[in-house]
Amino acid sequence: MKRIGVIGCGHIANVHAYSLAQLGAAKLVDASITATYDNDAARAEKLARRHGGVAFPSVEALLDAVDVAWVCTWTSGHLPAVVEAARRGVAVFCEKPLAPTLAECEQVAEALSGVPHQVGLVLRHAPVFARLAELAHDGRYGRVLTAVMRDDQYFPIQGMYGSTWRKDVAHTGGGTLIEHSIHDVDVLRWMLGDPVEVTGATASRFGHVGIDDTAVVNLGYADGSRAVLVSVWHQVLSRGSSRRLEVFFEQAYCWTEDDYLGPLHVQTSDGSEEWTAPLPPWATRLDVPEVHEKSVAQYAEPNMEFLIGLDASPPRTGHPGAAEALAAHRIVDAAYQSAHNGSTPIHLHPNP
Ligand SMILES: NC(=O)c1ccc[n+]([C@@H]2O[C@H](COP(=O)([O-])OP(=O)(O)OC[C@H]3O[C@@H](n4cnc5c(N)ncnc54)[C@H](O)[C@@H]3O)[C@@H](O)[C@H]2O)c1
Repeated sequence: MKRIGVIGCGHIANVHAYSLAQLGAAKLVDASITATYDNDAARAEKLARRHGGVAFPSVEALLDAVDVAWVCTWTSGHLPAVVEAARRGVAVFCEKPLAPTLAECEQVAEALSGVPHQVGLVLRHAPVFARLAELAHDGRYGRVLTAVMRDDQYFPIQGMYGSTWRKDVAHTGGGTLIEHSIHDVDVLRWMLGDPVEVTGATASRFGHVGIDDTAVVNLGYADGSRAVLVSVWHQVLSRGSSRRLEVFFEQAYCWTEDDYLGPLHVQTSDGSEEWTAPLPPWATRLDVPEVHEKSVAQYAEPNMEFLIGLDASPPRTGHPGAAEALAAHRIVDAAYQSAHNGSTPIHLHPNP
């Protein structure tokens, strides 16, 4: 049985822990949370109590006692935890963003590359985006002309977030663009590849220095296609996190407002149809109220894939890995550079 250590025991750690416990109980993985650590000892103890593990006094002591670490600290805590884990050869699931600055992201990616790992860019496991990526790659509707991604949520220092570090640039490296829309940049890159031109414009309307609450990014691709990302942190507390992605192909208009199973709406000259992915068959084995099946499966799937890969010989890195995450960070960094320079376009050299 793989011994899992959870480092940072806040919101997303509890989401992962719940899905990991469900996967273990359903015998879909042979792994269990045995250790926790948080700067706030009470949080570590609470998570350990709930899952039958032990709260450790330091990250180093935890890492000496586990096979795999889930790094779920706030963003500025990822680098030291990942470096310590990699030094010991402990496999790592590292939450996104990798780190607040591009230089630190490179260090996180370097450390991760030495051990089996996976990054928490969980939208890579969403069938609806896999379907769109497939359509973009197989050319059945012709070339992509343009994609429009809108991502919004209420400013996440209140409500269900229950923590305030997201208003502190030293912990985050920025606001809605890096903290939340790194997911969107990664999805656009999955569909459209690496942009050759990035233009960014940001605003901080709620007075938190260095924390963009509004970001608009324009992306240009070598084949002439374009994408726009609009990322917003507002104050509409009744409105949860939501995404809308529209893709215009030469021969089809596709859109979705669901970031897991769909539906994906597809309109062509022949009319309109909807495509929805089924819930994965294993999800019915989880002991979860039906109403939560979908949201638990969304995190359970990447967690399960990572753990199953660790059982392979040799252990596999999951997807996405550090290289994909770093490529998304380069785009985010270019957008911030552009925004700081009066929205001057930044020209990038796509990966070969
Ligand atoms: N993949 C996703 O869908 C997703 C969703 C939410 C958050 N996240 C990411 O997960 C990370 C955590 O976010 P959250 O919402 O859970 O925050 P949170 O504030 O709820 O929890 C963070 C916890 O980390 C602890 N911590 C901070 N530095 C630490 C350190 N050096 N060692 C040990 N513990 C430390 C804090 O005390 C806190 O308990 C962030 O990087 C965030 O961007 C990812």
